[in-house]
Amino acid sequence: MIVARTLEEWGDIRAAWSAAGASVGYVPTMGALHEGHLSLVRRSVSENDRTVVSILVNPTQFDDPSDLQAYPRELGRDVALLESAGVDAVFAPAPDAIYPDGYRFRVTERERSGALEGAHRPGHFDGVLTVVLKLLLLTDPQRTYMGEKDWQQLQLVKDMAAALFLRTQIVGCPTVREDDGLAMSSRNVRLDPAARSLAAEFASTLRAGGSAAEVRARLEEAGIVVDYVEAVEGRLLAAVRIGGVRLIDNVPL
Ligand code: PAJ
Repeated sequence: MIVARTLEEWGDIRAAWSAAGASVGYVPTMGALHEGHLSLVRRSVSENDRTVVSILVNPTQFDDPSDLQAYPRELGRDVALLESAGVDAVFAPAPDAIYPDGYRFRVTERERSGALEGAHRPGHFDGVLTVVLKLLLLTDPQRTYMGEKDWQQLQLVKDMAAALFLRTQIVGCPTVREDDGLAMSSRNVRLDPAARSLAAEFASTLRAGGSAAEVRARLEEAGIVVDYVEAVEGRLLAAVRIGGVRLIDNVPL
């Protein structure tokens, strides 16, 4: 497995893959990898000749500087996990290399990105869509694997790919959960034991179903701070804050 830290190193690898006529699968991540990420990686490895995983804690999608600062960074561990999963290349550029324009140019979606996550994290989806577009242009994959865990992100990226005639297929993959039902997330490591058990209650309450108002009431009864619980197009989406950590999840209705 090759680890490319610059655009030039990555460009050479991508050119060699094209010359070999290889199909390319791509998994964008911010690192601190867990089984959720690895499920996307394994699917890509099984469906493509080559797989590249990017690792970049993207500054433009963080509205809260302390969240950006606290975001776990574990490149050595991530690289070892990806190597044993059969990945061909890791692309881990410096943030500055991805923003040579200083973020002068950005992608803004004007109808759906202001709701849910967008309402609570101003500018979040501009940052996500912009970095995903840049990374897709650099990686040029046939298939791109993304998780249903971030449901709104997945829908917005699918819509962007259609709107901008991107030539990659966006493949949505199911949410991987801990044994107690908590959706895996890089932020879970920041939960202390009390917060961790409330987080499990968040997942079980959401998965038990009911109307958005009922689920919200049950979460609040358990002492959980709710950002939103909303039913959208046959899914129940929720975001909460537990012990200083923001968690999101969603289930089919
Ligand atoms: P990150 O949170 O690292 O997630 C990378 C990918 O893994 C996303 O597609 C996400 O939906 C998926 N994922 C995370 N937890 C999962 C789980 N428990 N089960 C299944 N898939 C899961 O999402 C981002 O990074 C960033 O916004 C990114 C798209 C990389 C742009 O910076």
